[in-house]
Amino acid sequence: MKPLLLAVAASAALGSTLLSPQVFAQSQAEAQVNALEGLAGPQPGSRRSGAKGICASGHFIGNAAGRELSRASVFKGDRIPVVARFSVGGGSPKASDKAKSVRGLALQFQLPGGEQWQMANISAPVFFVSKPEQFAPFVQARTADPATGKPDPEKIKAFSAANPDTTRQGAYLAQAPVPASYGAVNYWGVNAFEFEAAPGKSRFARWQFVPDAGVLGLTEEQLKSMGDEFLAGELRERVAKAPVSFDFRLQLAEAGDNLTDPTLAWPDARTVVSAGKLVIDKVADGMGGACDAMTFNPLVLPAGIKPSADPVLNARAAPYALSLGRRLSEAAKK
Ligand code: HEM
Repeated sequence: MKPLLLAVAASAALGSTLLSPQVFAQSQAEAQVNALEGLAGPQPGSRRSGAKGICASGHFIGNAAGRELSRASVFKGDRIPVVARFSVGGGSPKASDKAKSVRGLALQFQLPGGEQWQMANISAPVFFVSKPEQFAPFVQARTADPATGKPDPEKIKAFSAANPDTTRQGAYLAQAPVPASYGAVNYWGVNAFEFEAAPGKSRFARWQFVPDAGVLGLTEEQLKSMGDEFLAGELRERVAKAPVSFDFRLQLAEAGDNLTDPTLAWPDARTVVSAGKLVIDKVADGMGGACDAMTFNPLVLPAGIKPSADPVLNARAAPYALSLGRRLSEAAKK
């Protein structure tokens, strides 16, 4: 076993008591990013997840309901400039737009006084692991066996049986239609965050972006006549006619709701508050653009919004930074 893998295995087995938190986070991030690279194969210069995507931009306007929940400046009602990136799940820049994977909406809000808010949302209400240490083995179980060139269904079955929580996202995606547009699909933040109105007055919530155009899915019949590339062109055409907008909604947790497991949705009966509007009015012409050299770290938050104790949320910064570092150094060599 390589020294790094040995360290990861040892720290996982011993509850990470052997490694400092920083070293543990770094070695876990390496295992996660290496697993993504193993699944997609070498894709120099690309994101290790959400590799295929396009840059866009627009603005966000928060409202009074948002202000009631959080003192964050994003809800003051000003027009906040936003950089966006729409993506297809997975580590390949050639992923098919017809894949039954997630679509991504990553955003950076440029707030007054140099503050920023970053997030990366997906077109599923739940994530595929409840604990960060499940991430690398989940991906490895789906990686092609060098002998057959295909993933081993027995490995996937065994991993799912031992980790039933990791089947919930797949079950959602299997029944959801393939999105017809980046601008007509629901995106969820999945992780819980604490919205603070004033010191001592806060509520936990999960957000989602609901498309004003409605949710548009493709039928099996439509998919048959479509190529693997349509999402970028469709969004450019859509935005050329009129801006694409999303309602920003907060689902409020109640006592007893699980705040730390992103594979578990909260009951539909929970109060959902519309707290602002996201408007996308520009899409980059080709691949690349302002969003390319950025990463969207969901722990970059404005004052008035705090991370929950969700371990998956708290584990995201390190692999994002690692993927960014690897792809930028590869791009510089090109
Ligand atoms: C431990 C859990 C996770 C790991 C290890 C992980 C890993 C990664 C990595 C390495 C990247 C590429 C970053 C870059 O190069 O800039 C990425 C991007 C992304 N992730 Fe995650 N991720 C995790 C959790 C999540 C969750 C919970 C969500 C959904 C809420 C999510 C949604 C996305 C999206 C949409 C992108 C593409 C962002 C973009 O367009 O730049 N990830 N992830």
